[in-house]
Amino acid sequence: MTAREVLQIGEPALRRRAAEIPPEAIGTAATQTLIDDLIDTMRAERGAGIAANQVGEALRVCVIEVGDNPRYPYKPRIPLTVLVNPRLEPLGEERFENYEGCLSVPGLRGVVSRHAGIRVRAWDREGNELVREVWGLSAGTYQHECDHLDGVLFVDRVSDPRTLCTWEAFERHHRDAFVEYVGGLVERYGS
Ligand code: NI
Repeated sequence: MTAREVLQIGEPALRRRAAEIPPEAIGTAATQTLIDDLIDTMRAERGAGIAANQVGEALRVCVIEVGDNPRYPYKPRIPLTVLVNPRLEPLGEERFENYEGCLSVPGLRGVVSRHAGIRVRAWDREGNELVREVWGLSAGTYQHECDHLDGVLFVDRVSDPRTLCTWEAFERHHRDAFVEYVGGLVERYGS
């Protein structure tokens, strides 16, 4: 198990659509090691998630976990989740405004419009089918990670570039309002 180097915006590998993992390849040592490395890298970098193409592997697998995360202290918890070949489907028309950051976009955050609810279908690391409905901020995290697998970064989805800010400026000027907004989301969606 190893924390790997996280590719930064500008690396072509971040912009390529990652390939499906055939079901018979999920249990192989190569795939299992990649999953372990993704978990280690996410935890070492204190990310809420990470996708394989962020460590230079063009495969459709990402991991998500939110515990007590100092990067995102307002985020509801998400237990460690491994998604192989995930597919997302919006639940309803509702959207919300999410302040996002990314391990591959150092120093920057920005506001992205996300579906308020999604259904995710994927395989877990044992090859079992995983179907989950996810709402609110957690739904935003799933959408962010699955975007990576299509070569999409959050900055592509920032509709107003004036919302881009450093983490320091976020703390200083935008955090309080966002945390209040997040409180409303959590009340509404439970996550
Ligand atoms: Ni990211």
